Amino acid sequence: MAIFRVKHNNFEQTFTSEKIDTLETNEWEDASRLDEQGWGNRYDYEAQLIREVITENKVKTILEIGSGPGVLSQKIQQLLPEPVTYHLVDKPFAKKYFDEHKFEGKFFVKDISMDMDPEGLLPKYDLIIINDTLEHLIAPSNVVKRMRDLMGPESTLFVSVPNWRMAHQFLYRGLWDYDNFIYFMYIHGFEMESVYPSCLQTPDYPKTDTEESMPDELRRSWNWYFVMKRKKQ
Ligand SMILES: C[S@@+](CC[C@H](N)C(=O)[O-])C[C@H]1O[C@@H](n2cnc3c(N)ncnc32)[C@H](O)[C@@H]1O
Repeated sequence: MAIFRVKHNNFEQTFTSEKIDTLETNEWEDASRLDEQGWGNRYDYEAQLIREVITENKVKTILEIGSGPGVLSQKIQQLLPEPVTYHLVDKPFAKKYFDEHKFEGKFFVKDISMDMDPEGLLPKYDLIIINDTLEHLIAPSNVVKRMRDLMGPESTLFVSVPNWRMAHQFLYRGLWDYDNFIYFMYIHGFEMESVYPSCLQTPDYPKTDTEESMPDELRRSWNWYFVMKRKKQ
């Protein structure tokens, strides 16, 4: 395996551990990418997947971590027959957009790059959503441990990570390979219940030896959506 698996946009020259996006406080000051049709379609698709999880698990309380400005949260809530308690965690400009658009829910500004301070959050949530966010963090282990603390035995975790084939700029390349991610979550006390494909496809690259348990139909999925539960003691 080469040092760089996928070369693109010269990120090998510009992406450094000093300039990673999790440390940028002005993220979402420019939210124009939300206007692109592709994002809307992706959020519609995700909202349908999550609606099914909510219905199956009779979810009443939701925490979405790394929510961005909250567009997905609104699409999810619009699909539900009954109101739910919906909390979101992200950066200051994401909250500004959320407030300006008068979105439903309660938004917490927290820096989750190294850990997530639970102040103000509920003691437990029925569902935690963390969509394409863990791979941005400096200390994802700490945030995963916090998520586990915020879940009861019946709570559900909906977590997605990008497939390396879509050429993400990873701080920890390899941790997010399919088998490695399931292992990482297992040692943090989570067991996978199911996994869903993306509505988007990546370029075609063969499987690595860290993807042995991955079904072939997920090989070119843009990201993987895992439904997980706390491991039984
Ligand atoms: C790739 S985006 C995913 C956004 C959204 N979940 C989605 O799927 O479109 C990662 C999200 O994590 C948030 N994030 C990254 N580092 C963060 C930090 N240190 N504190 C709070 N939020 C952070 C970003 O602002 C961004 O909204």
